[in-house]
Amino acid sequence: MLRTHTCGELSVHHAGQTVTLCGWVDRVRDMGQGQFIDLRDRYGKTQLVIQPPFTPEIQETVRQLKNEFVILARGTVNQRPEGQDNPLLKTGSIEVLVDHLEILNPSRVPPFLPGASDLPAEEIRLKHRYLDLRRPKLQETLVLRSAITKSMRDYFEAHQFIDVETPILGRSTPEGARDYLVPSRVHKGEFYALPQSPQIYKQLMMVAGYDRYVQVARCFRDEDLRADRQPEFTQLDVEMSFVDEDDVMGIIDGLMQKLARDILGIELSLPLPRLSYDEAMRRFGHDAPDLRFGLEIVDVTPWAAGSDFRVFQTVASGGNFVRGLNFKGVADQFSRKRIDELTAFVQGDFGAKGLAWMKCEADGKLQSPITKNFSESQLAELSRQMDAAPGDLLLFIADSWDTSCRALYGLRRKLGAELKLYDPAAMHFSWVVRFPMFAWDEEGKCWAAMHHPFTAPLAKDLAKLDSDPAAARARAYDLIINGYEAGGGTIRIHDNNIQQQVFALLGLDEEQARMRFGFLLEALQYGAPPHGGIALGLDRITMLFGRLDSIRDVLAFPKNQKAADLMTQAPNLVEQRQLDELHIQLRRKDP
Ligand code: AMO
Ligand code: AMP
Repeated sequence: MLRTHTCGELSVHHAGQTVTLCGWVDRVRDMGQGQFIDLRDRYGKTQLVIQPPFTPEIQETVRQLKNEFVILARGTVNQRPEGQDNPLLKTGSIEVLVDHLEILNPSRVPPFLPGASDLPAEEIRLKHRYLDLRRPKLQETLVLRSAITKSMRDYFEAHQFIDVETPILGRSTPEGARDYLVPSRVHKGEFYALPQSPQIYKQLMMVAGYDRYVQVARCFRDEDLRADRQPEFTQLDVEMSFVDEDDVMGIIDGLMQKLARDILGIELSLPLPRLSYDEAMRRFGHDAPDLRFGLEIVDVTPWAAGSDFRVFQTVASGGNFVRGLNFKGVADQFSRKRIDELTAFVQGDFGAKGLAWMKCEADGKLQSPITKNFSESQLAELSRQMDAAPGDLLLFIADSWDTSCRALYGLRRKLGAELKLYDPAAMHFSWVVRFPMFAWDEEGKCWAAMHHPFTAPLAKDLAKLDSDPAAARARAYDLIINGYEAGGGTIRIHDNNIQQQVFALLGLDEEQARMRFGFLLEALQYGAPPHGGIALGLDRITMLFGRLDSIRDVLAFPKNQKAADLMTQAPNLVEQRQLDELHIQLRRKDP
């Protein structure tokens, strides 16, 4: 070992000892009489002091030092003089008086300094990711990720789960995104698909009798990227036999309790709260509501149907909805201009037709350009239903169910953050359960699986698969943390006939189902046990536990919004020889 200690470990207990440290030059300060060097590694920073009498060698070495040089320093640990402690630094009560200094490797002038407080554009950081990764915040995050993964692995091992690796080169697994394809050299014109998840393999492991499976599984999905999505990401993937929803959620409840305790020092009380999908949509307009704050949607449709305001009356009596939110005590923060911006927001982002607003005055009366359309008693009744008090701002959306859900969810989320309706350090865990089995796909003119095609319907809804697929509910559950879907799972279909029936509803005829999933349908006929599972988004959970805004910060080498790695320049062109071997001919120009 070149070093005796790291840059984060020395304290007054080491005073008087001779130590050797290695690391990167974070900063050099010339103090006239001597030099101070902040030496950095992933454990912290230590102050090196170079003071007279210098040897000529040391003096020469110090003269050459620049930011990000890798150096080795030997010296004696010294308690800092009275009043010179740095309480912000773990090693702030000591310094090392250097008697030997070596440059292990110089550095070119870096495009940005990992120690600087102002960061350059993300593009530059991604291009030089190895420099970005020297930043203490990113180092802390990767350590956090490693600790979360370990805590999860320990938990599953203690609960008799076995870790099984499933193939990366395989058949397409439908999770609703496009596949990444890998051409086969040996099988001309044929392709592997990278797994969107290990879904089918883990179910086959249940058929094989491995009743508790876990895997830290890399998944690949070619889909539109957002701040919480990457084209390749990691799932903590779980499957269990002879279980129902309560068992799977119970196991994950225990995991979340352990993680919150180990990682955040928070004690969660179990079971985690559960909300049905219908209730989540009704009360919050979304299937992954942020429950760090209250603020529930109020449905005033029946009132609106009996009102004299044409806009509300037509919507409410035409089978659509008038619903509102009451932002308590903030009316005076909303100028006409700010309300106009909110109107543009709900129209532009969610296709709402408009935004109606009212402010509750000091005398308890509702005030707004539209109040003239209502009688006194109608306004009093609205006030009662909305629980309006002086200073409140009421916002209403009159629209279809879907649009009103989306627009009110958008308003709740946006204003929740802007008005600081929650403590940013708070963590809220909950479940949303009993999703619909299907959503209607207008483009394909068929039903699409809300989770995936292997999800079992509630036993009492089995008959609805034929009579009313829209009303069939799934044995599905999503784990929600702070308004993010952190995980999702279902109890699976283990009956071959029901599986075929669901495939048929999803538009796969018998032949297509056999072609794509024949091996699964066959396996279900060889003694498949009842089973179910879940997958947690490890990246998202790390992002949430680390209280970060972007999933890119929890990956060592993330892709940008265009699914490219700016450092290695992947994806990229390949040689003609490789294409020839793969029997691939490129179109000269994309039409
Ligand atoms: P699902 O598709 O809901 O379920 O994925 C499970 C969890 O994985 C995370 N996730 C992602 N994280 C980052 N980038 C992405 N592109 C991305 N896509 C999904 C989310 C999500 O909740 N096979 C099923 C699980 C099961 O039924 O057991 C599945 O993959 O946090
Ligand atoms: P109008 O009578 O169309 O000028 O609308 C009067 C007010 O009602 C305006 O403030 C509109 O923004 C609002 N409004 C119109 N349509 C809707 C709607 N569908 N939902 C909520 N508010 C609306």
